[in-house]
Amino acid sequence: MVSATAPASSLAVSPPAKQEPVRAASPTITVETNDSSLEIAVGENLLDALLNSGHAVEYQCRSGYCGACRLSVTHGQVDYDEYPLALLNADEILPCCCRVNEPLKLAVALREGLDAGQGELFD
Ligand code: FES
Repeated sequence: MVSATAPASSLAVSPPAKQEPVRAASPTITVETNDSSLEIAVGENLLDALLNSGHAVEYQCRSGYCGACRLSVTHGQVDYDEYPLALLNADEILPCCCRVNEPLKLAVALREGLDAGQGELFD
């Protein structure tokens, strides 16, 4: 027969607390591009932020299938809730479906004829 009471000394040991990954503490994240810099809110869609700030980004499916939106990243990394089907090189991301958790530098320019700040659609 097994006893249901444990010795007092074994009750003092508790399992180690689960460590959460360190995330950006700031409510916004800086994304630098070829000719401008923008602040995006944590959880904001990167493709929308780039388009709203006047950047020239192609897109079609907006869900990681076609690869039309792929951009080269020169600094930083992104995560995906579901890994996209589009094929990517190690230095490429899909702004339509990635999650931005840290500052990024992207190889993307403003649409032709725009200067930094002129592409803002929403203030
Ligand atoms: S728009 Fe199709 S993968 Fe991003």
